[in-house]
Amino acid sequence: MSFVTSEEMMKEADKNGYAIGAFNVENMEMVMAVIKACEELRSPAILQTTPSTVKYAGLDMYYANVATAAKKASVPIALHLDHGSSFELAMQALRAGYTSIMIDGSHDSFEENIAVSKRVADACRPNGVPVEAELGKVGGKEDDLECDDPGYTDPDDAVKFVNETGITSLAVAIGTAHGIYKGEPKLDFDRLSEIRKVVSIPLVLHGASGVPDESVKECIRRGISKVNFATELRIAYSDGIKAFLKENPDAFDPKKYDAVGMEHVTELVKNKIRVCGSENKA
Ligand code: 13P
Repeated sequence: MSFVTSEEMMKEADKNGYAIGAFNVENMEMVMAVIKACEELRSPAILQTTPSTVKYAGLDMYYANVATAAKKASVPIALHLDHGSSFELAMQALRAGYTSIMIDGSHDSFEENIAVSKRVADACRPNGVPVEAELGKVGGKEDDLECDDPGYTDPDDAVKFVNETGITSLAVAIGTAHGIYKGEPKLDFDRLSEIRKVVSIPLVLHGASGVPDESVKECIRRGISKVNFATELRIAYSDGIKAFLKENPDAFDPKKYDAVGMEHVTELVKNKIRVCGSENKA
């Protein structure tokens, strides 16, 4: 049985200086492709869905899909709600069987963010389900989420936030953004080290698509233990299908073109697992 919560795998990563890749999935094919990469490299991983993904097919559909694949997998797999946009959605995910939850109150005031994050953490704790929350604002656009007013995480606020909410991991804003970068992102590594010095729970990096591998590795060296990748997976999947259909314009069997999309996703995820250093950590 390898369908697990994200808590143990993140604690192990945190203790041993590597990170768990958290990969956004949109459909059955992406779920299978990510788990294949994890099995080939013997890596634990988190599969996650955003609110707009959940809107597309429903929490129960993604739960059934990931739980079925994870139970058959030979490596630990967790299912995480990414950017849970309300207490209600977080509770729906908990009831659906998600094994890891993010509540994102980063667009509210500091006090409101504390209140909603604490409420979700309190509700999930008795169920043994870990809770990630975000402080500061990660910029950029992903799905329906858009932030054109990013703000960096303040280390002192982070201490207060973690103490008052009882969350189990903290997403920090240090200069990454969701989606495609126009230029090379400028990351505030020193800020990350400052946060690491004063916050003892695992730290999470959002917006890792397009961040150079060396920068992701530097973030992990400075204390990140979960790295989120979404846009690059979507591009890999679509590029694989586009290339197949260009070569085979008369193809009509989804199994044929999806297989190529899946191969592209598996290759990408294997690269990201190596960047995270989680190979052979299953
Ligand atoms: P990217 O789309 O930039 O990879 O961001 C992923 C993410 O942070 C999901 O929460």
